[in-house]
Amino acid sequence: MCSVVGYVGHRQSCSVVLEGLSRLEYRGYDSAGFACIDTRTQQLSCAKAVGKLSSLTQQLQQNPIDGSVGIGHTRWATHGVASQANAHPHFDCFKTLSVVHNGIIENYQALKAELESKGHVFVSATDSEVIAHLFEQSLVDHGHCISKATTALVSQLHGAYACIIVMQNQPDLLIAIRKSSPLCIGFGTQEMFIASDVLAFAGKTDKVAFLPEQTYAFVKQDSVSVYTFNNEPVALSLQKLDVAWLATDKAGYEHYMLKEIYEQKSAIYKTITAACQNEDSLWHFANDQAKSLSFADDKQLKSLKILGCGTSWHAGRIGEFFFEEVAGLPTTAALASEFRYRTFFPSKNTLYCAISQSGETADTLEAVRFLHGQGCATTTITNVASSTLVRECGRYFLTHAGPEMAVASTKAFTTQVAALYWLANRIAYEQGTVTLSGYNASNDALLMAGELLENGLETYRSYIFQTVAPAYAACEKFIFIGRHITYPFALEAALKLKEIAYIFSQAYPAGELKHGPLALIDEDTPVCVFSHPDPIMYQKILSNAQEIKARKGRVLAFVFEGQTELIQLADHVFVFPIVHPHLSVVVMTGVMQLLMYAIAKLRGCDIDRPRNLAKSVTVE
Ligand code: G6P
Repeated sequence: MCSVVGYVGHRQSCSVVLEGLSRLEYRGYDSAGFACIDTRTQQLSCAKAVGKLSSLTQQLQQNPIDGSVGIGHTRWATHGVASQANAHPHFDCFKTLSVVHNGIIENYQALKAELESKGHVFVSATDSEVIAHLFEQSLVDHGHCISKATTALVSQLHGAYACIIVMQNQPDLLIAIRKSSPLCIGFGTQEMFIASDVLAFAGKTDKVAFLPEQTYAFVKQDSVSVYTFNNEPVALSLQKLDVAWLATDKAGYEHYMLKEIYEQKSAIYKTITAACQNEDSLWHFANDQAKSLSFADDKQLKSLKILGCGTSWHAGRIGEFFFEEVAGLPTTAALASEFRYRTFFPSKNTLYCAISQSGETADTLEAVRFLHGQGCATTTITNVASSTLVRECGRYFLTHAGPEMAVASTKAFTTQVAALYWLANRIAYEQGTVTLSGYNASNDALLMAGELLENGLETYRSYIFQTVAPAYAACEKFIFIGRHITYPFALEAALKLKEIAYIFSQAYPAGELKHGPLALIDEDTPVCVFSHPDPIMYQKILSNAQEIKARKGRVLAFVFEGQTELIQLADHVFVFPIVHPHLSVVVMTGVMQLLMYAIAKLRGCDIDRPRNLAKSVTVE
């Protein structure tokens, strides 16, 4: 989503802010902007550019502005198209103050109408611009007292916001305001950094404070004072920042997505090794104060509720099968965006587990906050140790996928699936339903599945690029089917194709085909069939594939060794070694992702940064 970065200190802010923005560009990349109090003119100056951050950087190289106080923004449009006018920073009427904002101001229309009636002139279609004008008005209404104006501002804004304000007549001050959207402050020597995510300034300071919910801060180069929205002072707790910024490059691969597809075997290995090494201390208390929780506690478990969005939700849907079939725990994976709007039935022995690669997804965070409001304990499975979910959930399990740069999730997905598989087996072992040797064997099988995933990439790479992708790249619709655990896998495959190749794709449980979707089958609508290693499941899927062929459909099949009829029936086929059904999805993952990648490449899509999307979705 959008990211905000601010700097006040002894250096010039432009390069610091731009570097911070570039580290967070995965959050949004349809326009970018920078504002500072320019050293030469002492005026609030600004540069904005439509498109990726590199356009802004180029513009600033041609027409430099710089100063010791600066703010910047990369945008993922919510209100108003991606344009120069809608790009942040936004200004008041007299261009004496400027604001960058991440979040959504839900009541902006009413506020805007009121401000317009008082003579304010708006130049953008965004919700964010209202913050600048409302602050301008609040300053006038409160005799230019900044504290009173800030309190008045936040009392009128509804929604979620992380914003940074710079004022021309306060050239040593940044105002940071936070409600729901995260904002953190890095404490340096005679310099302060503000950002949506610590990654923006990791390596520049090792001291960080996360702005508490519904607070604002006056940030100067040598001091930070924080207040509640009721203007009461808040003591900030400084934490040691142990996040390193690892400048990741493509390591010779054409795209990050391709690199990340190839990193999956090692990511599974790292995730499982770390889990095994910390077996008795796996579920860490997020505040690091209490000792780790033993798995004995999980003996009380009666059910599991998994929450997530997008690919993380798909991993959760796959996890349902692990927990139910291995650990005997009734499990459902709910979409976080829907969960809190349904009737909630509290259950004492239910474990709530939020899955999120980034740990920042607003819908998932809000679901967790809803659960906390209901007195429920939560855990998270996430890939980012410094994330908000880790801070807010009681316990956490870290996947070790490493930074995932492509918007489409690949290795994060596989490590989530691996984590869920490991946990299900571990809990079953603790509960006595799986023996120690069974648990050890499950770990070996998981690592072997990672090996087979990689073998699949080697085996099918040229077949994908030379034969299969060219055969389907021109299609404008695609259907995916699977049964049992391969159905949520089909959901993930359909999402990948939509995200990166812009092909309308729909996934169905194979048995549902005859209840409607069969009407869609024709020569132009291929069906990708994900088989299943179980012989009974296979027979059913085979029948479904035959029904497709009988209607002149094209079948692209992912099958397992020995499934001869489906191999012969399919137009194109990938054959995988027989593994336990639970691991079948891991084994198929690499080839599935590589195929979607190859199709997107043939269609000339921007694979790592698909149109309209963002990697971390911090608005609801
Ligand atoms: C975005 C990304 C998806 C991701 C989803 C959930 O939509 O583009 O790839 O699956 O957010 O993200 P999370 O970080 O919570 O796993």
